[in-house]
Amino acid sequence: MSEFAELKINDKIYILPIIIGTRGEKAIDISNLRKESGFITLDVGYQNTGTCKSAITFVDGERGILRYRGIPVEELAEKSTFVETAYLLVFGKLPNKTELAKFSASLTESSLIHEDMLNFFNGYPSGAHPMAILSSMVSSLSVYYPDAFHLFEDDIDSDVNVPRLLSKIRTIAAFSYKKSIGEPIVYPRADYSYCKNILNMMFWSYSKPQEPDTFKVKVLEKLLIVHADHEQNCSTSTVRLVGSSKVNLYASICAGICALWGPLHGGANQKVMEMLDKIVEKGYSIDQFIEKAKSKDPNCRLMGFGHRIYKTYDPRAKVLKAVCDEMVKKYGVSEPRLEKALELEEKVLKDDYFLSRNLYPNVDFYSGILFRMLGIPTKMFPVMFAIGRLPGWISQWKELHSTVPFKIGRPRQIYIGPEEAHYIPIEERK
Ligand code: CMC
Repeated sequence: MSEFAELKINDKIYILPIIIGTRGEKAIDISNLRKESGFITLDVGYQNTGTCKSAITFVDGERGILRYRGIPVEELAEKSTFVETAYLLVFGKLPNKTELAKFSASLTESSLIHEDMLNFFNGYPSGAHPMAILSSMVSSLSVYYPDAFHLFEDDIDSDVNVPRLLSKIRTIAAFSYKKSIGEPIVYPRADYSYCKNILNMMFWSYSKPQEPDTFKVKVLEKLLIVHADHEQNCSTSTVRLVGSSKVNLYASICAGICALWGPLHGGANQKVMEMLDKIVEKGYSIDQFIEKAKSKDPNCRLMGFGHRIYKTYDPRAKVLKAVCDEMVKKYGVSEPRLEKALELEEKVLKDDYFLSRNLYPNVDFYSGILFRMLGIPTKMFPVMFAIGRLPGWISQWKELHSTVPFKIGRPRQIYIGPEEAHYIPIEERK
């Protein structure tokens, strides 16, 4: 195959290099097109635009494949831990025993937040969305750790700043939950693993002083692993774009959290649960709901279905569906939302509207049910997604900063507003 493409505009031919990825993905490099021809490309929603070369995550949406640093997500969900997977994403390889022990120790050492930050929680009204609290708190970390302004310029970055953020995000998340229910906060424990600490900080209380259930800890590990990275999605692209201005890591991650919050992205898990709640509590039939979703009313999409990249079953949803089954078997819970979800999935997968558009369940369809089974309140679902996605954001941010030549992200546009106009004094305006 030739290693360049020809673009003919009017009578002139432009030669454009072709870039081929590890798995044969093909791209036409148009970096110099405007300089040479005066043309830009227009691609609303970036449906057909690559913004970087990346060695972190591979997704094949047609075949339902997701790999971190080459390792299938199913394998990691089964055999790894979230901390090990985070290391893999950020540092590019699985850690050996010494590296993992050192990384885990750094996470433990960094798990507290500055006590002054506890005052911030009191400033939020009750009922504040925990994603608003999380994003503000993460941004606030930048004033407590100004050394992060020089992240990745020397070795302290990997040793200090990465574990610091990974560790503190779960503490902030758990504290915001405790504050929201008016209970005293529970500090992280040095003898607990990353995920065990999350459940302990959220659910341990003086009136119910129970150690987290080992099986539930494992479920949380899997949930976080499947969320850990997903290449250039909306929030990750946001982290890269904001990071490309050379702002500090915390500010870049704060922007990613805000992007993730939206219902078309990481906020979908909350919306899936609210949809299932409505179905169960209001007694809607699944058929009614499906018909409503097909009506094209922008306010009633079937949440948890469809994906920009996956045109088959989302591999993350497959992993989580199996975990749901294990949870039901283990605890014998009858979760009416899960029953409704299964009925919904079965009907959707036979419906022409969804089949013809390749709309399959995505990760958020089952993650919400699992978070619910773990006892996590609905508004906290996107926060759990954010904790899971953090290693991906950090690794993408780190990769961005090692790109040569480094470029600030700055898309172009096609202007369609008025021609040159002039200021009209207010008295003369109609
Ligand atoms: N329910 C009903 N119709 C849908 C849905 C849905 N969930 N998703 C897409 N469609 C239809 C859409 O109306 C359009 O139909 P037509 O071709 O007749 O105009 C067609 O399918 C293509 O949809 P699109 O909006 O052009 O696709 P997109 O790639 O721009 O959007 C999506 C992808 C995820 C935003 C969308 O499928 C959606 O809104 N899904 C529900 C929200 C959701 O579950 N989001 C979580 C995604 S997974 C977590 C993550 O990685 O972010």
